[in-house]
Order: sequence, then structure tokens, then C-alpha cells
Amino acid sequence: MKALVLAGGSGTRLRPITHTSAKQLVPVANKPVLFYGLESIAAAGITEVGVIVGETSDEIRQAVGGGTRFGLKITYIRQDLPLGLAHAVLIAQDWLGDDDFVMYLGDNFIVGGITGLVETFRESRPDAQILLTRVRDPRAFGVAELDAGGRVIGLEEKPERPRSDHALVGVYLFTPAIHEAVRAVRPSRRGELEITHALQHLIDTGADVRSTVIGGYWKDTGNVGDMLEVNRTVLEGLERRVDGEIDAESEIIGRVVVEAGARVGRSRVVGPAVIGAGSEVLHSYIGPFTSVGEYCHILDSEVEFSIVLRNASIRGVGRVESSLIGRYAEVTPAPLVPNAHRLVLGDHRKVQIHP
Ligand code: DAU
Repeated sequence: MKALVLAGGSGTRLRPITHTSAKQLVPVANKPVLFYGLESIAAAGITEVGVIVGETSDEIRQAVGGGTRFGLKITYIRQDLPLGLAHAVLIAQDWLGDDDFVMYLGDNFIVGGITGLVETFRESRPDAQILLTRVRDPRAFGVAELDAGGRVIGLEEKPERPRSDHALVGVYLFTPAIHEAVRAVRPSRRGELEITHALQHLIDTGADVRSTVIGGYWKDTGNVGDMLEVNRTVLEGLERRVDGEIDAESEIIGRVVVEAGARVGRSRVVGPAVIGAGSEVLHSYIGPFTSVGEYCHILDSEVEFSIVLRNASIRGVGRVESSLIGRYAEVTPAPLVPNAHRLVLGDHRKVQIHP
């Protein structure tokens, strides 16, 4: 069995923190979301992985490399334009050959991995197996309609009036039956070859398409609350490791990772939390469920239940909570006079201020 990981796409869709890089590299607990997918593929016993790359190819290749660190053999497959998930299968067909495969969307996160799902698929081997999850607003997803027995009877891509709240998760298990189906579909309203339509084609031609409903699913929809929540979930599983430098006046409590090259001085860090390599935390408090990326500066401040991305700095501002601070962002006090907030906010940013 092989894996086809989709890390293409344009990289220009506006989401709070992904406008400058590939959305598959959005960090969760200081690690790109794509890495969790690759790790769960390796954990499921799959070693041959094709990674679809597009406009952000350089960034993805630089981050992932040849795959040895994941125990994988990675082949990059270039997709010149993001013409759809079914198009990705189409161009990977030579590489996939006659093997069964798991298709994994690189911006999806499945808590607990896919080992059980892959095992069940290997044993029962239906023509295709999809994963579903219940969501509040299914309009941004593929949506499945199930009969009373839980069998998939219809699929729609981003319907305006969803027939159920069962959204398609970005992990699909396929036999080579999918190849004929992707050849049969035509571009959708948004101009893409939809895998949802290929699955519908399989259903319409009598193929055995099964579904499993899972919990613990996340992808970056631009919702900061969800992002903090998935960060929290991953940090829950952290094991304490302090490789950085901690001075005698500091206290590190509980499951905290301080990466090599990070420096903590006159501070208190309460886990679960992670402090990235090369960062400094001085005269500050880092509270639970906080990820501080690489090369950040946290001085005279308190940060809790937050994500601070690489090279950001927070100095002398008191307490920051439930926040997402972007790369190279600076948070500092305003000059005393005049008594005013001074903001430089990019497009689509959000800021909450105590009046
Ligand atoms: O995330 C789950 C959803 O993914 C499903 O519910 C939908 O049915 C499915 O169509 C897909 O919807 P999105 O519109 O959210 O997919 P998106 O265009 O964001 O692409 C998903 C991943 O695949 C992303 O990592 C980029 C990559 N991709 C996408 C396209 C269209 C490619 O590598 N090549 C492509 O042509």
C-alpha cells in the first residue's frame, strides 16, 4: 500500500496566518501540520509516499526533504496548477500503479492517526473507504448523505444546502478502482476535478464505498479558537524535555519542552508548553497550552493558552491570553503620551483591546 499526500494548491488563500506560506506548514505545537500526517502514515506501516507539490514546492521540499527522518521514501510529484484532488490522482497514476493507497490532504489533522483505519481497510478491502466527521457548518466541506444503515448514498461538494452534517475528512482509502472514476469526472463549478464527484461515480456504478465517522479532526479554517484547541490537544501529549538553558531563578513545572538553544531566565514556565530553539524567555511567565516558536523574544510579559510563531517578540505588555501571534510580529507597550493604541495590522487581522 502507498500513500499520496497532497501538499499542492496555490498558497495564496487568505487564512489568518497562512498567507505567506503553504497551508500544510501551519505549525501545531511547533511542528507543521503536514508532519503529523506523514508520521501517521509511517505509523500505519506505509513507507512509499508520493507528495503532490505545486506553487509552494520549494517550501514543502525544504521542510520535508527525502523522508528518511519520518522513515519514509518520498517521491515528489509536480502539479503545475491546482486543478483538483481528482486531478492529483490522475497525474499520480503512473507512480501509484496497481497499488491500493491512502490519499491524505496535507492540511488535515487526525487526532490519534490512521493506523486502525488502514488496518480495517486492508482486511475488508472495499473499493473505497471515506472518513466523515460531524461539523457545525458543513458548507465548506464535501458532505455525505447516509441511509438508515449508515451506507453512503450521495456526496456533494460544498453544497449551499447540506443534506447532513457529515463532512468529508481529507483522508481517503482507495483501491485502483478510483483511477477509472477520476477519468470519468468533468470539472466542477469551481473548475476543479473533484474527488467527491469521482466517489459519487463509484457509488453510481455500484462500487462498495464505505464510511467511518471519526472525532478528533481539525483543519485550518481560519478559526483561531480551533487552532488554539488543536494546539492544546497536541500539547496534552507532550513529554517533558529540557535541552535549553534554564537559570537558577527560573522554574519549569510539568510537561514542558525547552528546545536546545532556548534560554529561560528569571521566569516561570508551566506546562504543557513548548519553547522553540533559539528563543529567549526573560522575566516572564509562560502558562499552560502555549507554543512559543523558534527565535522568539518574550520579555517582561505573561503568555498563556497562545501560539507565538517564529521570530515574534512580546515585550513588557503584561498578560497575553488566547492569542495567535504571527511570524516576526512585535507586541510592545505604547508610548505613555498620548494615551492611545498604536496598531499596524495587516489585512484580515483581528485585535481585541482593553479600552
Ligand atoms: O479538508 C477536507 C475537504 O478537502 C473535503 O471536505 C472536501 O470534500 C475536499 O474537496 C477538500 O476541500 P478543500 O476545498 O478544503 O480542499 P483544498 O482545495 O483546500 O485542498 C486540500 C489539500 O489538497 C490542500 O493541502 C491543498 C491540496 N491540493 C488541492 C488542490 C485543489 C493539491 O495538492 N492540489 C490541488 O489541485
